[in-house]
Amino acid sequence: MKLGVNIDHIATLRNARKINEPDPLMALQVLKEAGADQVTIHLREDRRHITDFDAKRICQNSFLPVNMECSINPEIIDIICKLKPHRATLVPERREEVTTEGGLDIIKFEKEIKNAIDKLHKNNIEVSLFIDPDFEQIKKSAQIGAQMIELHTGKYANLHLALNTNINHTPFKVFENYDRKTLKKMLDDELKLIKDAAISGEDLGLEVAAGHGLNYQNVKNIADIKEISELNIGHSIIANAVFLGLKEAIIKMKEIIS
Ligand code: PXP
Repeated sequence: MKLGVNIDHIATLRNARKINEPDPLMALQVLKEAGADQVTIHLREDRRHITDFDAKRICQNSFLPVNMECSINPEIIDIICKLKPHRATLVPERREEVTTEGGLDIIKFEKEIKNAIDKLHKNNIEVSLFIDPDFEQIKKSAQIGAQMIELHTGKYANLHLALNTNINHTPFKVFENYDRKTLKKMLDDELKLIKDAAISGEDLGLEVAAGHGLNYQNVKNIADIKEISELNIGHSIIANAVFLGLKEAIIKMKEIIS
């Protein structure tokens, strides 16, 4: 099981002060020492955390493979083609969202996504599609030439939090009218969907990753799915790094997933 560490929120912290520290570039050495397998960054259309300058320096200096999350906006795809990361993970993006909500709809945006994949492949960039655990989406991902899919674990993570914490605000508010038994069933069903999706992905010849909302408490069930070969985790690792330091936070996550 490989671990991609998403370092966007180092840039979020820096940007809160609009100065030059903490510098996401400095995370690269720590990631390597801690045994991370990949650095993941998201160049968002609104540049709310990682900037073009960050992305350029990270792509030029990383000794680990760089996985760049990005939207299918042709201007962004052109930038990614110039940056030449190891992989692009195509995600849906809405400016007003707090974080990526839901997977990319490969069926609805087939033409646009196929164009993006073709451009990226011409530039020798591997493509992963961030999708919900849904068989039709997986089938279409394979048909249009993606090498990899990343299964969206956000719903699983929210259900896990709703069951195991007292948090009473969005996105958990949507679960407030469910009793514990119902929530547990919803969690088990979602986990089964993710497992079945991973099996379908592997059967169709796709490499299967997973990510979003994974943390030290909920990651084990996902890491136990043997068809999933990679997890991309950001928020929880950076949150724990505030108290433990980045290296320890990554080592602790690696220990659980392997
Ligand atoms: N994978 C993808 C495709 C994402 O968009 C994100 C969030 O940027 C992550 C993984 C990491 O999610 P989290 O920060 O919740 O761990």
